[in-house]
Amino acid sequence: MKKELMTTLVLSLLLFGCSNKTTSSETTSKSSQATTQTVTTQSTTSTTVATTQNNPTPNGMADTSLGLDIVVNKKHALPADYAPGENPTAVAQLKKLIHKMQELGYPINNSYSGYRSYEYQTKLYNNYVAQEGKKAADTYSARPGYSEHQTGLAFDILDSSGNLLEGDQYKDAIHWLHTHAHEYGFIVRFQEGKEAITGYIPEAWHLRYVGDRATDIYNSGLSLEEYFGVPGGDYE
Ligand code: DAL
Ligand code: ZN
Repeated sequence: MKKELMTTLVLSLLLFGCSNKTTSSETTSKSSQATTQTVTTQSTTSTTVATTQNNPTPNGMADTSLGLDIVVNKKHALPADYAPGENPTAVAQLKKLIHKMQELGYPINNSYSGYRSYEYQTKLYNNYVAQEGKKAADTYSARPGYSEHQTGLAFDILDSSGNLLEGDQYKDAIHWLHTHAHEYGFIVRFQEGKEAITGYIPEAWHLRYVGDRATDIYNSGLSLEEYFGVPGGDYE
């Protein structure tokens, strides 16, 4: 059910994502001291995200960009009007990774599910709730404002038919992704054994761009929450 819905929604998502590209410079903060930062936007929304940077807009980044050290989870949401679009560096790296997987013979799609607006995540989440109920939906789909797809730094890898990369038939591709994504600046965000801290069931297909820190995070064996020392788990 989930896969079918995802497939149906991927096309509109891609179209939406493509029209919302933005340019933003990037930086990798060397500070690993975690803080919780209050983000107040022009709307009435005021919410928190976890960041590890001393300056929320380092190196002259656009106001809408919270940098690569952002942690979005069930404890740290984004404002509804935080809409940076796809991160151009992350997308460029993703395309290299996809190309490499295709070169190695894995049946990976050129398309992917990347940036999602708050509004789009609302539709997606509500569809899952309608299909399977809120309790089940919360185990694999983020509520609006709580999805790291809204950061423009998260990407779902799809098979050649446009379905999420999951299942035993893809175990070699999944293993490759798990062990090599960091070489391209990505981590597999929701892993087995980390459900209690990430708040979600494992997703072999969901990559999160973290830039230069990726190999260090991968080698640490930690979830993003554990690596940065920020709270995770369930909604408040
Ligand atoms: N599937 C992930 C948790 C999301 O909805 O962002
Ligand atoms: Zn995802």
